[in-house]
Amino acid sequence: KSEKLALSLSGLLLLVFFGALMYAAVAEDVEVPTCITDMDPFTSDTLFQTSEDVYEIHMVARMWAFQPSTIRLPAGSTVDLYVTSQDIIHGFKVERKNVNLMAVPGAINYIRVKFDEPGEYFFACHEFCGAAHHTMAGRFVIE
Ligand code: CUA
Repeated sequence: KSEKLALSLSGLLLLVFFGALMYAAVAEDVEVPTCITDMDPFTSDTLFQTSEDVYEIHMVARMWAFQPSTIRLPAGSTVDLYVTSQDIIHGFKVERKNVNLMAVPGAINYIRVKFDEPGEYFFACHEFCGAAHHTMAGRFVIE
């Protein structure tokens, strides 16, 4: 009897968490990282404009750098960011932005991020990846 209760309670809890996640994603417009499966992994970095104020970046992580490492964009830009790795697992985190991705070899992770305020937004690898992990960083320069 108590097992049944525990089971339904944990089921209820799962629903609550799932509901909170959906609420965050839809109502609060929180960007949820997506793992892209219908796109071939890229090996070189690119940055191009897809429409007015929208840019697409293919970010490549490898020991111990990101490419591109300095990205200059006008204020008000929306960035579709695709991240992959050429060697081992790295992290990708942008300060003051809700961006926290993994850079995984053979896989692509995606997030959309908007830069309204001019300034510098540093990004860094936040997954320990070897001797020069702490030097693995770059920045968005929003002008
Ligand atoms: Cu790449 Cu730490």
